[in-house]
Order: sequence, then structure tokens, then C-alpha cells
Amino acid sequence: MSDQPVPAESTERAPRKRPDQTGGPGSSQPTEPRPHDPTDAAAAIAPPAEDGTGGAPNPAGPPGPTELAPPRGTGDVLPPESWRWQAATRLAMDSFATAGYAPIETPIFEHTEVFERGVGVGSEVVGKEMYTFSDRGGRSLTLRPELTAPVMRAVLGHNLHRARLPVKLAYAGPMFRQERPQKGRYRQFSQVGIEAIGSMSPAIDAEVIEVGDRYLRDAGVEPTLLLNSIGHLDPGCRTGYLKLLTEYLVANRSALAPVDIERISLNPLRTFDSKESRTIEVMRRAPMITDHLCDDCRNHFDAVQSHLTKLDVSYTLDPHLVRGLDYYTRTAFEFTAGGLGSQNAVGGGGRYDGLAESLGGQHLPGIGFALGLDRILLSGFQTKDQSSPVAAYVVAIGSAAVEQALAIATHLRAAGIGADLDFLDRSVKSQMKDAARSGGRWAVIVGDEEIAGNNVTLKDLGTGEQETVARDKLEDRLKP
Ligand code: HAM
Repeated sequence: MSDQPVPAESTERAPRKRPDQTGGPGSSQPTEPRPHDPTDAAAAIAPPAEDGTGGAPNPAGPPGPTELAPPRGTGDVLPPESWRWQAATRLAMDSFATAGYAPIETPIFEHTEVFERGVGVGSEVVGKEMYTFSDRGGRSLTLRPELTAPVMRAVLGHNLHRARLPVKLAYAGPMFRQERPQKGRYRQFSQVGIEAIGSMSPAIDAEVIEVGDRYLRDAGVEPTLLLNSIGHLDPGCRTGYLKLLTEYLVANRSALAPVDIERISLNPLRTFDSKESRTIEVMRRAPMITDHLCDDCRNHFDAVQSHLTKLDVSYTLDPHLVRGLDYYTRTAFEFTAGGLGSQNAVGGGGRYDGLAESLGGQHLPGIGFALGLDRILLSGFQTKDQSSPVAAYVVAIGSAAVEQALAIATHLRAAGIGADLDFLDRSVKSQMKDAARSGGRWAVIVGDEEIAGNNVTLKDLGTGEQETVARDKLEDRLKP
């Protein structure tokens, strides 16, 4: 046993054993990769607090064990699942970059008004789901529930639109919405997305949609693309249509589900999103926005469809698709996928030609989408580089070899070859077991004999074959 301390866990419940002594995380029996399912993570250890925001406080008061479950609706992404997450994010950002979308990072929290003015107080996200708090200076801040409004704020704030148009930006990161958690719906979730700001051309609508569609296909998701146009706020377009729709809803008020009645005055378009069968029935006969678009919006929509057809992107027209955020104008779309139950939207987006003005800026049209990474992973994301990059595990025989083992691992890493080794003073047998667990293909064995011969013994952990390799040839031998 080494004199190095074994890392301790902060609970009496599960004292951590050395990996080579247990059937637990360090055993040669790999544990089943646990799907990321934060809906029950907290519930499994502690019931959610009354307000649904987290685990139960310790009723006996301090000092109790620290609550080890993350807050309800959130989750930890652990290896090996975390490799898949990283691969999905990398694939997205690389794929978006090939179309000229440069990465942008904005703060996790923003002034609340960015969302109130940008996304709209009438939206469910702003009205009911935001994590809003006051900081010590009394400022109202909000954990970002989405990134389109913050990206537009950043574009306006840094005058990016004065440099080159359209401004094409891509992002990946966590968002926060206090929704009722269920499979595929979490309170902290991750999105990847793009925004193209500064062009009215229907060609860019098609580009944006194609970029999203291609990424989803490359990620192994077979998306269905739903497409609609919701026009723009003008009496000859959506504003006139909303009047007609409101009249229709008022006339059919008694047939609507009670929960949808308040939508008539708050946000009549959202009645199309209702899950209530009574309302769905009423909406079947409701006037459709696509029959009331102005000529410009109609022409734009026709051109988007014609571009998509040329690009071989198949879509289904869905005149009921209205999207949940108030900034949308004209093109609205959603990607859905099978196998996800009710939370089957893997992404959505659309045009937001009035957003910059809502934030106090000049007229700056835009279009973009965000895809839900949690749902993409749930629906079976697969790529080849989704495991640990460790290729070689250096096994030291005897204490004299430890220094050599660390030096060999360091040289391999410097040459771009992932390498790991033992730091718990394990026996050779246990090091070989750990090598198998590391996910690496090779064991690089070094002992007195190898040190004397200035070589190593290389073992292919898949086939069991062994060979002797000169130290200065090792990197070449291991290069894929
Ligand atoms: P959104 O439709 O609210 O749009 O979200 C986009 C995607 O994020 C959804 O389709 C879903 O996959 C994922 N998502 C949303 N909420 C949750 C949740 N609670 N748990 C897990 N996944 C979730 C937007 O956010 C817009 N900003 C998209 C956009 C970009 N429009 C224009 N540009």
C-alpha cells in the first residue's frame, strides 16, 4: 500500500476503497454507462424540496452529510458518458465552423431585461420559467434560458454588425429553465446553436436550416423538419391575422380547455401549442397564419422552400408551428426525432427581424436555431471519437521504474499520444487490470530489464501480443 492518501469521499455511507480492491468503479467489471437522466437523479437520493427546486434540507439541522444529489432537474455527466457529450459538442462546433459560424461565449447570467425585452414577457419561458435573482447590488439578473437574445445584445454592444455582415456566430453551453422535469426536459440543459445576423435573404434561412439538418444527420439523429412562416407584426400580416384568430377563439371560448382561455388575451398564437384535446379540436378549424401572410412574407417563405428543395433538405409544412418565444418573425422551424416521447423537439429556430430593435438597437434582422444536446444524446448520438483519448498505459515493474514510466508517458503525450499510468503504487497485476480499464489499446511495460536494454515491452491489450520496442522508436510504433 502506498503512503499516498487514497482520495476520500465526503460521506460515511460509502468509504472509498482502492480501485484494485473493490468490485466498484475501479473493478475490471465496467459499470453500465448511466444515461444522463437528471429527472430522477435527485429524487433517488433525496425527495425534492416543496418548491421543486432541489433536494430536501437536512431536517435535523447541521452537521449532516452534504446533499450529494444535484438539484432537481439537473444532473452530473460522468465518464464514459461525458466523452459522448464532448464529442457531440465538438462535432457541432466544427460542423458550424465549416459554414463560417465563429464561436461566441457570453455570460451565463444577463440583466433580466435582456430576456424580458428580447424574448418577451408574454412567453412562457420569461413569464414562468426563469431563474431570476437580485445580486448584492440589487440588480436583477437571470440565468440565461436561451442564447439568441444574449447573442444579439453582444452583437449590438460590440458593434459586430459594423464590421462584416452577416455576423455568423455559433455557441454551445448550458441554459436554465424552471420547467417540470421529465425525460428530455431538464432545468439545466445544454444547447448548441448558430445565429446569422444582418441579412434578410431567404437564402440564409435555407443555409441555417441546412446546417442544423446536416449536423443532426451526422450525429446519427434522423430529424423531421417542420416548417412554417408566422409573418411579421403589421396590420396587413400577422397583426391582422391575430385579430381574426382572437375573434375565432372568443367565439369558441366555451369549447377551449380552461387552461387555454387565458391565452386568448395573453398570447393567442400559443393556443396552437396546447396539449389539451378540446383545444386541439378547436384549433383544427382555426384560421391559419399562412393564409394571411402579406406579399413580402409570402414571397420570402416561397423562396425559403425553393432553396431547401434545391439543397435536398426535406421538410413538412406545419401551419400550426408557432414557436414559444415572442421574437420570431417569418420563418419558424423545428426538428423532431423519434424515441424521445413527448419531448421530441431536438431543436428549433427561426427568424427574429425585430429582436435588435426590442433591445434598443437599430434594425438588424437575424435567423438561427438551437439544438438540445441532452435530447440529441438521448436519441442515440454516435461518432467514432467519443471515448477517452488514452492510447497507452505505462506499467512500471518495481519502484525504480516509476520515474521511467512517468517520463515515457510524458514523452508520449508530448508526441500527441494519450498516455496514463498508475499513481497508487499498485502491483503489476493490478496495473495491468487498470490498463484494461483505462480504455487504452497498449500497455507499455518498463522494468529493470527494459531500463538496462533502453527498450520497453509493448503489449497489445486487445490481442495479447507482446513485442520489444526500442525507447526511441516507441512513439513511431504507437502513432495510429
Ligand atoms: P427553444 O425551442 O426554446 O429555442 O429551444 C431549442 C431546443 O432546446 C429545444 O428544441 C430542445 O431540444 C432544447 N430544450 C429547450 N428546453 C429544454 C429543457 N428544459 N430541457 C432539455 N432541452 C431543452 C430557443 O432556445 C431559441 N433560442 C432557438 C433559436 C436560436 N431561435 C433562433 N435562434
